[in-house]
Amino acid sequence: MNSFPPGFLWGASTAPHQIEGNNLNSDWWVQEQTVPGMEPSGDAIDSYHRYREDMTLLADAGLNSYRFGIEWARIEPLPGRFSRAELAHYRRMIETAFELGLTPVVTLHHFTTPRWFAEEGGWLGERAVERFAAYAAEATSILGGVEWVATMNEPNMLAMMTTMRRMMTAAPQATEEQAQEQWQSPTVDQDPRPQLPPPDPEIGARLVDAHHAAREIVRARTDAKVGWTVANRAFVARPGAEAKKRELEYVWEDLYLQGSIRDDFVGVQSYSSQWVSEAGIEPHPQSPDNTLVGTAYRPDAIGIALRHTAEVTGGLPILITENGIATSDDARRITYTDEALRHVSEAVDDGIDVRGYLHWSLLDNYEWGHWEPTFGLISVDRDTFARTPKPSLAWLGSVARAGDLTAVGH
Ligand code: BGC
Repeated sequence: MNSFPPGFLWGASTAPHQIEGNNLNSDWWVQEQTVPGMEPSGDAIDSYHRYREDMTLLADAGLNSYRFGIEWARIEPLPGRFSRAELAHYRRMIETAFELGLTPVVTLHHFTTPRWFAEEGGWLGERAVERFAAYAAEATSILGGVEWVATMNEPNMLAMMTTMRRMMTAAPQATEEQAQEQWQSPTVDQDPRPQLPPPDPEIGARLVDAHHAAREIVRARTDAKVGWTVANRAFVARPGAEAKKRELEYVWEDLYLQGSIRDDFVGVQSYSSQWVSEAGIEPHPQSPDNTLVGTAYRPDAIGIALRHTAEVTGGLPILITENGIATSDDARRITYTDEALRHVSEAVDDGIDVRGYLHWSLLDNYEWGHWEPTFGLISVDRDTFARTPKPSLAWLGSVARAGDLTAVGH
Protein backbone atom coordinates (compact mmCIF):
# COMPACT_ATOMS: atom_id res chain seq x y z
CA MET A 1 0.00 0.00 0.00
CA ASN A 2 2.77 2.43 0.97
CA SER A 3 0.35 4.99 2.33
CA PHE A 4 -0.12 6.30 5.84
CA PRO A 5 -3.18 7.05 7.97
CA PRO A 6 -4.72 10.56 7.96
CA GLY A 7 -3.45 12.70 10.82
CA PHE A 8 -0.12 10.87 10.75
CA LEU A 9 2.65 12.93 12.35
CA TRP A 10 5.62 13.54 10.06
CA GLY A 11 8.63 15.21 11.54
CA ALA A 12 12.13 15.11 12.93
CA SER A 13 13.67 14.82 16.38
CA THR A 14 16.42 16.50 18.37
CA ALA A 15 17.71 16.51 21.95
CA PRO A 16 18.70 19.64 23.88
CA HIS A 17 22.28 18.74 24.81
CA GLN A 18 23.07 17.69 21.24
CA ILE A 19 22.00 20.96 19.64
CA GLU A 20 21.73 23.83 22.14
CA GLY A 21 25.32 24.49 23.17
CA ASN A 22 26.92 25.48 26.49
CA ASN A 23 24.86 23.22 28.65
CA LEU A 24 27.32 24.06 31.41
CA ASN A 25 25.34 22.77 34.34
CA SER A 26 24.85 19.25 33.03
CA ASP A 27 26.62 16.03 33.97
CA TRP A 28 27.57 15.44 30.33
CA TRP A 29 29.36 18.79 30.14
CA VAL A 30 31.51 17.70 33.09
CA GLN A 31 32.16 14.32 31.48
CA GLU A 32 33.18 15.88 28.20
CA GLN A 33 35.92 17.84 29.94
CA THR A 34 37.22 14.91 31.95
CA VAL A 35 36.86 11.64 30.05
CA PRO A 36 39.75 11.10 27.64
CA GLY A 37 38.64 10.44 24.10
CA MET A 38 35.44 12.49 24.26
CA GLU A 39 35.06 15.53 22.07
CA PRO A 40 33.36 18.46 23.86
CA SER A 41 29.94 19.74 22.82
CA GLY A 42 30.93 23.43 23.21
CA ASP A 43 28.50 25.69 21.37
CA ALA A 44 26.94 22.57 19.84
CA ILE A 45 24.99 24.09 16.92
CA ASP A 46 23.54 26.98 18.90
CA SER A 47 19.94 25.91 18.58
CA TYR A 48 19.32 27.44 21.98
CA HIS A 49 19.17 30.71 20.04
CA ARG A 50 18.32 29.44 16.56
CA TYR A 51 15.35 27.19 17.30
CA ARG A 52 12.93 29.35 15.28
CA GLU A 53 15.08 29.03 12.18
CA ASP A 54 15.34 25.26 12.71
CA MET A 55 11.59 24.82 13.16
CA THR A 56 10.87 27.06 10.19
CA LEU A 57 13.07 24.94 7.90
CA LEU A 58 11.24 21.83 9.09
CA ALA A 59 7.77 23.32 8.64
CA ASP A 60 8.59 24.88 5.26
CA ALA A 61 9.74 21.49 3.98
CA GLY A 62 6.24 20.10 4.58
CA LEU A 63 6.66 18.32 7.90
CA ASN A 64 4.04 18.78 10.61
CA SER A 65 5.74 17.77 13.84
CA TYR A 66 8.91 18.48 15.82
CA ARG A 67 10.23 16.43 18.70
CA PHE A 68 12.55 18.35 20.99
CA GLY A 69 13.57 18.24 24.61
CA ILE A 70 13.61 20.61 27.53
CA GLU A 71 16.82 20.63 29.56
CA TRP A 72 16.56 19.72 33.24
CA ALA A 73 20.06 21.10 33.97
CA ARG A 74 18.95 24.57 32.84
CA ILE A 75 15.49 24.48 34.39
CA GLU A 76 16.67 23.33 37.84
CA PRO A 77 20.22 24.66 38.22
CA LEU A 78 20.19 23.95 41.97
CA PRO A 79 18.07 21.40 43.82
CA GLY A 80 14.57 22.78 44.23
CA ARG A 81 15.51 26.13 42.59
CA PHE A 82 13.69 26.44 39.30
CA SER A 83 14.57 29.03 36.69
CA ARG A 84 11.50 30.97 35.53
CA ALA A 85 13.53 32.38 32.64
CA GLU A 86 14.51 28.94 31.32
CA LEU A 87 10.96 27.65 31.66
CA ALA A 88 9.83 30.69 29.68
CA HIS A 89 12.46 29.91 27.05
CA TYR A 90 11.05 26.42 26.52
CA ARG A 91 7.50 27.79 26.54
CA ARG A 92 8.56 30.09 23.70
CA MET A 93 9.79 27.04 21.78
CA ILE A 94 6.43 25.33 22.27
CA GLU A 95 4.60 28.49 21.16
CA THR A 96 6.84 28.77 18.11
CA ALA A 97 5.95 25.23 17.12
CA PHE A 98 2.21 26.04 17.43
CA GLU A 99 2.67 29.22 15.43
CA LEU A 100 4.35 27.28 12.60
CA GLY A 101 1.65 24.62 12.57
CA LEU A 102 3.92 21.97 14.11
CA THR A 103 2.74 19.43 16.66
CA PRO A 104 5.38 19.46 19.40
CA VAL A 105 6.49 16.18 20.94
CA VAL A 106 8.29 17.19 24.13
CA THR A 107 10.91 15.05 25.88
CA LEU A 108 11.54 15.87 29.55
CA HIS A 109 14.81 13.97 29.86
CA HIS A 110 17.24 12.98 27.11
CA PHE A 111 20.30 11.41 28.79
CA THR A 112 21.53 14.56 30.63
CA THR A 113 20.92 15.58 34.24
CA PRO A 114 21.96 18.57 36.36
CA ARG A 115 25.44 18.28 37.88
CA TRP A 116 24.02 18.37 41.40
CA PHE A 117 21.81 15.38 40.59
CA ALA A 118 24.88 13.45 39.39
CA GLU A 119 26.75 14.49 42.55
CA GLU A 120 23.88 13.13 44.66
CA GLY A 121 24.48 9.74 43.03
CA GLY A 122 22.55 10.24 39.80
CA TRP A 123 20.01 7.54 39.02
CA LEU A 124 21.57 5.39 41.74
CA GLY A 125 21.04 8.11 44.38
CA GLU A 126 18.41 7.61 47.07
CA ARG A 127 16.38 10.64 46.07
CA ALA A 128 16.54 10.09 42.30
CA VAL A 129 12.85 9.30 41.74
CA GLU A 130 11.65 12.09 44.01
CA ARG A 131 14.00 14.59 42.29
CA PHE A 132 12.84 13.64 38.81
CA ALA A 133 9.19 13.83 39.86
CA ALA A 134 9.71 17.33 41.30
CA TYR A 135 11.30 18.47 38.04
CA ALA A 136 8.48 16.91 36.00
CA ALA A 137 5.92 18.71 38.18
CA GLU A 138 7.58 22.06 37.49
CA ALA A 139 7.86 21.27 33.79
CA THR A 140 4.10 20.79 33.51
CA SER A 141 3.69 24.55 34.04
CA ILE A 142 4.79 25.11 30.41
CA LEU A 143 3.10 22.14 28.74
CA GLY A 144 -0.31 23.71 28.07
CA GLY A 145 -1.65 22.56 24.68
CA VAL A 146 1.11 19.97 24.18
CA GLU A 147 -0.38 16.67 23.02
CA TRP A 148 2.63 14.36 23.29
CA VAL A 149 5.05 14.17 26.20
CA ALA A 150 7.88 11.63 26.62
CA THR A 151 9.15 11.53 30.19
CA MET A 152 12.49 9.95 29.28
CA ASN A 153 14.45 9.10 26.18
CA GLU A 154 15.80 5.57 25.88
CA PRO A 155 15.81 4.55 29.55
CA ASN A 156 17.42 1.30 28.43
CA MET A 157 20.43 3.12 27.00
CA LEU A 158 20.47 5.41 30.03
CA ALA A 159 20.57 2.32 32.27
CA MET A 160 23.43 0.98 30.16
CA MET A 161 25.33 4.29 30.48
CA THR A 162 24.70 4.32 34.24
CA THR A 163 26.00 0.74 34.43
CA MET A 164 29.07 1.79 32.43
CA ARG A 165 29.74 4.80 34.68
CA ARG A 166 29.45 2.65 37.76
CA MET A 167 31.99 0.23 36.30
CA MET A 168 34.37 3.11 35.59
CA THR A 169 34.01 4.52 39.11
CA ALA A 170 34.57 1.08 40.58
CA ALA A 171 37.91 0.85 38.77
CA PRO A 172 39.59 4.19 39.60
CA GLN A 173 43.00 2.54 39.19
CA ALA A 174 42.42 2.48 35.42
CA THR A 175 45.12 4.40 33.59
CA GLU A 176 44.21 7.20 31.20
CA GLU A 177 44.67 4.88 28.24
CA GLN A 178 42.45 2.26 29.78
CA ALA A 179 39.80 4.91 30.40
CA GLN A 180 40.08 5.99 26.80
CA GLU A 181 39.64 2.43 25.64
CA GLN A 182 36.66 2.04 27.92
CA TRP A 183 35.00 5.19 26.74
CA GLN A 184 32.52 4.47 24.07
CA SER A 185 29.67 6.55 22.89
CA PRO A 186 26.35 4.84 23.56
CA THR A 187 25.87 4.87 19.83
CA VAL A 188 29.29 4.20 18.33
CA ASP A 189 29.67 0.48 18.11
CA GLN A 190 32.86 -0.06 16.14
CA ASP A 191 35.49 -2.70 16.56
CA PRO A 192 37.94 -2.94 18.22
CA ARG A 193 36.07 -1.13 20.96
CA PRO A 194 34.48 -3.40 23.55
CA GLN A 195 30.80 -4.28 23.29
CA LEU A 196 28.36 -2.19 25.31
CA PRO A 197 27.69 -3.68 28.76
CA PRO A 198 24.12 -4.91 29.31
CA PRO A 199 22.01 -2.45 31.33
CA ASP A 200 21.67 -3.56 34.96
CA PRO A 201 17.96 -4.46 35.47
CA GLU A 202 18.03 -2.94 38.97
CA ILE A 203 18.89 0.42 37.45
CA GLY A 204 16.20 -0.21 34.84
CA ALA A 205 13.63 -0.83 37.59
CA ARG A 206 14.59 2.50 39.19
CA LEU A 207 14.01 4.28 35.88
CA VAL A 208 10.64 2.56 35.47
CA ASP A 209 9.68 3.96 38.91
CA ALA A 210 10.86 7.44 37.91
CA HIS A 211 8.87 7.21 34.68
CA HIS A 212 5.69 6.13 36.46
CA ALA A 213 6.02 8.93 39.02
CA ALA A 214 6.48 11.53 36.26
CA ARG A 215 3.72 10.01 34.13
CA GLU A 216 1.14 10.37 36.91
CA ILE A 217 2.14 14.00 37.47
CA VAL A 218 1.94 14.88 33.78
CA ARG A 219 -1.43 13.11 33.53
CA ALA A 220 -2.85 14.91 36.52
CA ARG A 221 -1.74 18.35 35.36
CA THR A 222 -1.97 18.33 31.56
CA ASP A 223 -4.06 16.88 28.74
CA ALA A 224 -1.03 15.37 27.03
CA LYS A 225 -0.60 11.75 26.08
CA VAL A 226 2.35 10.48 28.12
CA GLY A 227 4.88 7.77 27.38
CA TRP A 228 8.59 7.18 27.05
CA THR A 229 10.81 6.20 24.16
CA VAL A 230 12.63 2.88 24.06
CA ALA A 231 15.70 2.00 21.98
CA ASN A 232 15.11 -1.16 20.03
CA ARG A 233 18.05 -3.21 18.77
CA ALA A 234 15.77 -5.36 16.58
CA PHE A 235 17.35 -8.64 17.62
CA VAL A 236 17.01 -11.57 15.23
CA ALA A 237 17.79 -15.11 16.45
CA ARG A 238 20.12 -17.47 14.66
CA PRO A 239 18.65 -21.00 14.44
CA GLY A 240 18.47 -22.43 17.96
CA ALA A 241 19.06 -19.09 19.68
CA GLU A 242 15.41 -18.16 20.42
CA ALA A 243 15.79 -18.57 24.19
CA LYS A 244 18.96 -16.46 24.22
CA LYS A 245 17.20 -13.80 22.18
CA ARG A 246 14.31 -13.65 24.65
CA GLU A 247 16.73 -13.39 27.55
CA LEU A 248 18.62 -10.52 25.93
CA GLU A 249 15.42 -8.82 24.81
CA TYR A 250 14.22 -8.76 28.40
CA VAL A 251 17.37 -7.08 29.67
CA TRP A 252 17.72 -4.63 26.78
CA GLU A 253 14.11 -3.83 25.89
CA ASP A 254 11.20 -5.69 27.41
CA LEU A 255 11.69 -4.50 30.97
CA TYR A 256 11.18 -0.97 29.60
CA LEU A 257 8.40 -1.87 27.19
CA GLN A 258 6.55 -3.60 30.02
CA GLY A 259 7.06 -0.40 32.03
CA SER A 260 5.08 1.41 29.34
CA ILE A 261 2.02 -0.87 29.31
CA ARG A 262 -0.21 1.63 31.18
CA ASP A 263 1.10 4.63 29.22
CA ASP A 264 -0.81 6.46 26.50
CA PHE A 265 1.77 5.66 23.83
CA VAL A 266 5.26 4.30 23.41
CA GLY A 267 8.09 5.80 21.38
CA VAL A 268 9.95 3.35 19.16
CA GLN A 269 13.55 4.15 18.21
CA SER A 270 15.49 1.85 15.95
CA TYR A 271 18.41 2.19 13.54
CA SER A 272 19.87 -1.23 12.90
CA SER A 273 19.28 -4.89 13.66
CA GLN A 274 21.55 -7.39 15.37
CA TRP A 275 21.91 -11.15 15.20
CA VAL A 276 21.77 -13.18 18.38
CA SER A 277 23.45 -16.56 18.58
CA GLU A 278 23.54 -18.95 21.53
CA ALA A 279 26.75 -17.16 22.61
CA GLY A 280 25.01 -13.76 22.71
CA ILE A 281 24.76 -10.61 20.58
CA GLU A 282 26.91 -10.85 17.48
CA PRO A 283 28.95 -7.72 16.73
CA HIS A 284 27.92 -5.95 13.53
CA PRO A 285 29.96 -7.66 10.79
CA GLN A 286 32.59 -5.39 9.22
CA SER A 287 31.26 -4.16 5.90
CA PRO A 288 31.71 -1.17 3.60
CA ASP A 289 27.93 -0.73 3.94
CA ASN A 290 28.17 -0.04 7.67
CA THR A 291 27.10 3.38 8.90
CA LEU A 292 29.37 6.03 10.43
CA VAL A 293 28.62 4.60 13.89
CA GLY A 294 29.69 1.11 12.83
CA THR A 295 26.23 -0.41 12.68
CA ALA A 296 24.95 -2.58 9.86
CA TYR A 297 22.80 -0.94 7.14
CA ARG A 298 19.43 -2.38 8.15
CA PRO A 299 16.43 -0.28 7.13
CA ASP A 300 14.24 -3.28 8.02
CA ALA A 301 15.11 -2.75 11.73
CA ILE A 302 12.20 -0.38 12.27
CA GLY A 303 9.70 -3.01 11.08
CA ILE A 304 11.14 -5.60 13.47
CA ALA A 305 11.08 -3.03 16.29
CA LEU A 306 7.45 -2.05 15.63
CA ARG A 307 6.25 -5.65 15.65
CA HIS A 308 8.17 -6.53 18.80
CA THR A 309 6.94 -3.41 20.61
CA ALA A 310 3.31 -4.03 19.63
CA GLU A 311 3.58 -7.60 20.88
CA VAL A 312 5.10 -6.72 24.27
CA THR A 313 2.89 -3.70 24.96
CA GLY A 314 -0.33 -5.34 23.77
CA GLY A 315 -0.93 -2.91 20.95
CA LEU A 316 -0.24 0.42 22.65
CA PRO A 317 -0.30 3.35 20.17
CA ILE A 318 3.20 3.88 18.79
CA LEU A 319 5.06 7.00 17.74
CA ILE A 320 8.29 6.35 15.90
CA THR A 321 10.33 8.92 17.78
CA GLU A 322 13.69 8.12 16.14
CA ASN A 323 14.92 6.36 13.02
CA GLY A 324 17.72 7.39 10.70
CA ILE A 325 21.24 6.75 9.53
CA ALA A 326 24.69 8.16 10.25
CA THR A 327 26.08 8.82 6.79
CA SER A 328 27.87 11.56 4.90
CA ASP A 329 26.05 10.47 1.73
CA ASP A 330 22.62 12.09 1.68
CA ALA A 331 21.36 9.99 -1.26
CA ARG A 332 21.96 6.98 0.95
CA ARG A 333 19.95 8.62 3.74
CA ILE A 334 17.03 8.95 1.33
CA THR A 335 17.32 5.33 0.20
CA TYR A 336 17.53 4.13 3.80
CA THR A 337 14.54 6.20 4.90
CA ASP A 338 12.47 5.20 1.88
CA GLU A 339 13.10 1.53 2.67
CA ALA A 340 12.46 2.05 6.38
CA LEU A 341 9.14 3.76 5.63
CA ARG A 342 8.08 0.83 3.44
CA HIS A 343 8.57 -1.41 6.48
CA VAL A 344 6.56 1.04 8.60
CA SER A 345 3.78 1.05 6.05
CA GLU A 346 3.68 -2.77 5.99
CA ALA A 347 3.39 -2.79 9.77
CA VAL A 348 0.51 -0.29 9.54
CA ASP A 349 -1.18 -2.49 6.93
CA ASP A 350 -0.83 -5.40 9.34
CA GLY A 351 -2.79 -3.47 11.94
CA ILE A 352 -0.03 -1.99 14.09
CA ASP A 353 -1.17 1.34 15.51
CA VAL A 354 1.56 3.73 14.36
CA ARG A 355 0.71 7.42 14.82
CA GLY A 356 3.76 9.12 13.39
CA TYR A 357 7.32 9.04 12.09
CA LEU A 358 9.93 11.42 13.49
CA HIS A 359 13.27 11.14 11.77
CA TRP A 360 16.55 11.33 13.69
CA SER A 361 17.73 13.93 13.26
CA LEU A 362 16.63 17.33 12.04
CA LEU A 363 20.22 18.60 12.16
CA ASP A 364 23.77 17.28 12.14
CA ASN A 365 24.58 17.50 15.82
CA TYR A 366 26.73 16.44 18.76
CA GLU A 367 26.69 12.66 18.81
CA TRP A 368 27.53 12.01 22.47
CA GLY A 369 31.29 12.42 22.52
CA HIS A 370 31.74 12.61 18.76
CA TRP A 371 31.09 15.12 16.00
CA GLU A 372 31.81 12.91 13.02
CA PRO A 373 28.62 10.84 12.74
CA THR A 374 26.10 12.92 10.82
CA PHE A 375 22.43 11.96 11.09
CA GLY A 376 20.89 15.27 9.99
CA LEU A 377 18.44 16.33 7.31
CA ILE A 378 20.19 19.71 7.61
CA SER A 379 23.93 20.31 7.80
CA VAL A 380 25.39 23.01 10.00
CA ASP A 381 28.58 25.04 9.71
CA ARG A 382 29.98 24.85 13.22
CA ASP A 383 31.77 28.20 12.96
CA THR A 384 29.02 30.36 11.49
CA PHE A 385 26.09 28.12 12.52
CA ALA A 386 24.68 28.52 8.99
CA ARG A 387 22.11 25.84 8.24
CA THR A 388 22.00 24.10 4.83
CA PRO A 389 19.08 21.76 4.20
CA LYS A 390 20.07 18.52 2.49
CA PRO A 391 17.95 17.00 -0.32
CA SER A 392 16.65 14.45 2.23
CA LEU A 393 14.74 17.21 4.05
CA ALA A 394 12.80 18.17 0.93
CA TRP A 395 12.32 14.49 0.09
CA LEU A 396 10.85 13.65 3.51
CA GLY A 397 8.69 16.77 3.30
CA SER A 398 7.26 15.58 -0.05
CA VAL A 399 6.47 12.17 1.40
CA ALA A 400 4.74 13.91 4.31
CA ARG A 401 2.69 16.13 2.00
CA ALA A 402 1.67 13.17 -0.16
CA GLY A 403 1.14 10.82 2.82
CA ASP A 404 2.27 8.16 0.42
CA LEU A 405 5.61 6.75 -0.70
CA THR A 406 4.64 5.75 -4.20
CA ALA A 407 3.82 9.34 -5.12
CA VAL A 408 7.41 10.43 -4.44
CA GLY A 409 10.49 9.08 -6.16
CA HIS A 410 13.96 9.07 -4.73
C1 BGC B 1 19.59 8.76 20.95
C2 BGC B 1 20.10 9.99 20.25
C3 BGC B 1 21.27 9.63 19.36
C4 BGC B 1 20.75 8.68 18.31
C5 BGC B 1 21.73 8.33 17.22
C6 BGC B 1 19.65 7.51 20.15
O1 BGC B 1 20.35 6.58 20.89
O2 BGC B 1 18.34 9.00 21.52
O3 BGC B 1 20.40 10.95 21.22
O4 BGC B 1 21.91 10.73 18.84
O5 BGC B 1 20.28 7.51 18.91
O6 BGC B 1 22.79 7.58 17.66
